[in-house]
Amino acid sequence: MADIVVKGGRVIDATGERMADVAIEGNNIVAVGEGLTALRVLDAGGCVVAPGFVDIHTHLREPGTEDAETIESGSRAAVLGGYTAVVAMPNTTPPIDDASVVRDVLALGRDALCDVHTSAAITVGRAGDRLAPMAEMAELGVHLFTDDGDGVQDPGVMRNALEYAAGLGVTLAQHCEVDSLSLDGQMNEGEWSSRLGMPGIPAEAEELMVMRDIALARMTGARVHFQHLSTAGSVAMVRAARQAGVPVSAEATTHHFTLTEAEVAGYDPVFKVNPPLRTVADVGGVKLGLADGSIDAIATDHAPHTADAKNLPFDQAPPGMLGLETAFALAVTELDLSIAEIIALLSWRPAAIAGIATEHGAPIAPGSPANVTIFDPVTTWTVDPRELASLSRNTPYAGRTLTGRVRHTIVAGEAVVIDGDAQR
Ligand code: DOR
Repeated sequence: MADIVVKGGRVIDATGERMADVAIEGNNIVAVGEGLTALRVLDAGGCVVAPGFVDIHTHLREPGTEDAETIESGSRAAVLGGYTAVVAMPNTTPPIDDASVVRDVLALGRDALCDVHTSAAITVGRAGDRLAPMAEMAELGVHLFTDDGDGVQDPGVMRNALEYAAGLGVTLAQHCEVDSLSLDGQMNEGEWSSRLGMPGIPAEAEELMVMRDIALARMTGARVHFQHLSTAGSVAMVRAARQAGVPVSAEATTHHFTLTEAEVAGYDPVFKVNPPLRTVADVGGVKLGLADGSIDAIATDHAPHTADAKNLPFDQAPPGMLGLETAFALAVTELDLSIAEIIALLSWRPAAIAGIATEHGAPIAPGSPANVTIFDPVTTWTVDPRELASLSRNTPYAGRTLTGRVRHTIVAGEAVVIDGDAQR
């Protein structure tokens, strides 16, 4: 007898869609079909049963800033958002730039509610000068390397890192930002920054590094993954590069396809983020990139900050927004895409970038690992920051009514979310 049967849902995965029950035993899916039974039944009436979502860009804040988030609290937010795996970012304190910190993060992740993977820094201390011991960290299973929070400024360092990464079979992910152009910018540079009297971050601060790294990917043959693309120009360059066969991939965050620079007009630091919210045309460019495949994946850039930190004046507050618990519903609400296309952007495509596609995002079929998300695609709900599982409250979507809600999340055969409630 199976342990769990997910009953009466519409299964959607990379192979297509069909009405079917899904039976799970131990860590795996054991049967998909009609009239299945098990010890425990999870109702999926009116719901979609999909491969679990994968967030390739999550700030879990541990080690170092555990009052903003911990690996445990972040993983609870993740499973409530339908994620069965996350990839932690390395801008912790200390940074994740050597094997000992990687080991610590992975050890803490073992008790988490979802599968916790970690990225690691490209350079020592994320300082951009010397390459981090990537081989040792790759041996521990790290697949994505990034100095996220900062871009690698020196093209020679980036070239060396790409050659090193290609030899190791890992992927470099770039936070594209030329520091000498962004300086102390607080928001997008343009009409709004002039009107509000705030120093701006021009689109070119991102686009020049995208352009440079496309050239370096072409030169070295090594893959570059572009993180949180925010401008229509960046998306257009990535599209052209892909068409020319350059090995690049890209992600976009939910906030970059749902919010514009105009939100900053009230000087509320909850709308401060890096890269900054951009123009209406940029939002259109990002949406187009998601629709035509130029952008592979939706990522959250979930960036928790304590109320004390975020309640500072705009220019002193840290950049970043929560994302894990709202990303799926924002995609359903704001994107003109089918549910199957949205699942692809949240599940198997990011899983492939993270190098975990056999564990997450696999078709719902006997033998696949039971990492499954069950969601109601039509129900509506209103975002209440007090109800979030994250330790932080810095969501820019407070009070917004969204369509689509995660109902159950199953990680390695364990129902960690049932009827919208985390089970531990
Ligand atoms: O807004 C951001 N917040 N952008 C980043 O690149 C870093 C992140 C953070 O760590 O808070």
